[in-house]
Amino acid sequence: MNVLVTGGAGYIGCRLVPKLVEAGHHVRVIDKLVFGKEGLAECDDRIEIVGKDIREIGAAELQDIDAIIHLAGLSNDPTAEYNPAANKAMNMDATIRMGELAKENGVKRFVFASSCSIYYTLTPDDQYRTEDYPVDPQAPYSWSKRQAEIGLLALADASFCPVMLRKGTIFGQSPRMRYDLVVNTFTRDAYAKRRLSLHAGGRMWRPMLHIDDAVTAYQMAIEAPEKKVHSQVFNVLTDNFQVVQIAQEVRRTLEGHKGIRLDLDLQPVGVSRSYRVAGSKFHETLGFEPQFQMGQSVDTMWDKLEHGVDIENPIYYNIRWLELLCDMETRLQAMGGKVF
Ligand SMILES: NC(=O)c1ccc[n+]([C@@H]2O[C@H](COP(=O)([O-])OP(=O)(O)OC[C@H]3O[C@@H](n4cnc5c(N)ncnc54)[C@H](O)[C@@H]3O)[C@@H](O)[C@H]2O)c1
Repeated sequence: MNVLVTGGAGYIGCRLVPKLVEAGHHVRVIDKLVFGKEGLAECDDRIEIVGKDIREIGAAELQDIDAIIHLAGLSNDPTAEYNPAANKAMNMDATIRMGELAKENGVKRFVFASSCSIYYTLTPDDQYRTEDYPVDPQAPYSWSKRQAEIGLLALADASFCPVMLRKGTIFGQSPRMRYDLVVNTFTRDAYAKRRLSLHAGGRMWRPMLHIDDAVTAYQMAIEAPEKKVHSQVFNVLTDNFQVVQIAQEVRRTLEGHKGIRLDLDLQPVGVSRSYRVAGSKFHETLGFEPQFQMGQSVDTMWDKLEHGVDIENPIYYNIRWLELLCDMETRLQAMGGKVF
C-alpha cells in the first residue's frame, strides 16, 4: 500500500515508519518537523518526507495514497494546555479536515491516533472502561481527541473507513526519544538520581503500551479487512498499572538485572488523572497480542542511557521544547517563520 503517516517524524512515527517500509509499504511522511527528522535516518532514502503543517495540506499530498495513519498534533496534556487554541486547530479541526480531504480524494482507510486519556477521572477508581463507556473529557488534550473522533466517525460511509485507536501511554526506546512518558521518565530518574518520585501516592491507573506493540496495532489497523474495523473504536494497551506499580516494576527490573538500588519517594499529596481500560475488543476483533513487557524496555532504555544521552536536552520533553520554541518565536517572526 501507499501509506501516508502524518507526524511520522515523532516518537511513535520513528519506530512505525521503518516497520511499514520493512513490511513492503511505500510511505510518505507529512510532518512539520518540530523535532527534526533525524529519527527517520535509518529509512530516509526509502521514504518521502514532506515538511509541512497538517493545517496546510491539500489534495496534492494525498495523491496515490491508499491509507492514512494520522499521528500529527500536540501529543500530551501540558502542550495542549499551553496553547488550547493551537491544540484545537491541530488536534481537532485539522484532523477532521484531513478526514474530509481523504474522503474527497478516495483515501478510504483512515487510522487515528486517539488516546485512552479520554476516559480520565480525577479520583482513581478500579472500573475498567470499555469503548462504549460514555465519555465527555474536559481537559484540552483529551477533549480535542474526542472531538476529532466524533468528527471522523461522522464522515464514515461506504467510501470512508475511519478507525480510532485509543492508545495507552507508550513506553520504550525510539530514535526520536521522549523522556516525558512515565516509564521512560522513571528509567531516566533511576539512572540520573537513583530515586523515583510519585505524587498522590502513585494510586492513579494508567493503561500502558510498548512502542513496538503500538506499531503492530497501526499495521493491523491499515491491513485488516474493512468489515472488522469500519467505524470502530479500539482501546490498545499491554496492561493497566497503578503508577506505584510502574515504579515498583522499574525498581525490580533494575535491581534484578543491573544491581541498582532505587528509593521510591511516595508523596501523599497531589491530584492526577486516572484511567483504567479494557483492551479485550482489539484482541477479540483482530487477534492483537502485546509482545513486549515493561522490564525489557527498561533494560533497553537503561543501556542507551549508559551509552551517553544528554538527558537535559529539552528536545526530549515536549513541553520544554515547545516553551523554548515559543520563546524563540519573536526572533523567528523577525526571520519570517512561525511556531503556531
Ligand atoms: N506517546 C503516547 O504515549 C501517546 C499515547 C496516546 C496517543 N498518542 C498520540 O499519538 C500521536 C503521536 O505521539 P508521539 O508520542 O509520537 O508524539 P510526538 O510529539 O513525538 O510526535 C508528534 C509529531 O507530529 C508532528 N506535528 C505536530 N504538529 C504538527 C502539525 N500541525 N503538522 C504536522 N506535523 C505536526 C511533530 O513534528 C512530531 O514529529 C499523537 O497524536 C499523540 O497524541 C500518543
